[in-house]
Amino acid sequence: MLLHLSTWAEVGQFLERSRAIVVPIGSNEQHGPTGLLGTDWLCPQIIAYEAEKTADILVAPTFNIGMAQHHLGFPGTISLRPSTFIAAIGDWTRSLVAHGFEKILFLNGHGGNVASIEAAFSEIYAEASFAKRRAGFALKLCNWWDLDGVGELANQQFPTGHGIHATPSEIAITQWAFPDAIKPADYTPQIAPSGPIRDALDFRARYPDGRMGSDPGQASPEKGGELVKLAAQSLVLQLDAFSRESVPN
Ligand code: NI
Repeated sequence: MLLHLSTWAEVGQFLERSRAIVVPIGSNEQHGPTGLLGTDWLCPQIIAYEAEKTADILVAPTFNIGMAQHHLGFPGTISLRPSTFIAAIGDWTRSLVAHGFEKILFLNGHGGNVASIEAAFSEIYAEASFAKRRAGFALKLCNWWDLDGVGELANQQFPTGHGIHATPSEIAITQWAFPDAIKPADYTPQIAPSGPIRDALDFRARYPDGRMGSDPGQASPEKGGELVKLAAQSLVLQLDAFSRESVPN
């Protein structure tokens, strides 16, 4: 069930049978010469929507702008600073908790979001902790590439040149979902350089075409489809296990 295609009454009925929800979260940022700007929010959305076809789960609208200050040297990137991002995650979460959701799983598609999502969780839990009361809900961060079996499959598909940004696995997933948006290119060098992440102009100087350590030329829609099917199955299992965890009130 997709929240944005549901009525308030349908969400109310869902809450009578489950208190869990998935929030795809990512970033809108450059992904090298062939990667779509939406790659990091599309991947978790594609996986969550695929999972929703096979199980009675609820998927929230995608939180599609993240912490991408280091990509602002490339046109089309839109970033929240960490403090804004943390504040926004807090209000999304408080809204869902106010309706009765007790298990909120953020399915993340951008490594640069991880520190801020974890900080947001601590900010939210701190409200209960300072008041010496139970929060009554639990938050979980799950990167799609960490879902059971997905990293192993990506390693088999791309034993070299996976890298950490504009990776063949994430490009493959968007190719599977949006075959009409596949962009061909010759990569020079074939495998991009690796190194530190600092400010936007430093990033562009180190990684001129936007890739980090990756060879997205290995991506294919078929490999993307395999990753999506496995990730969707693993997401359903993760959410089920998370739903069963007890949360004392
Ligand atoms: Ni990415």
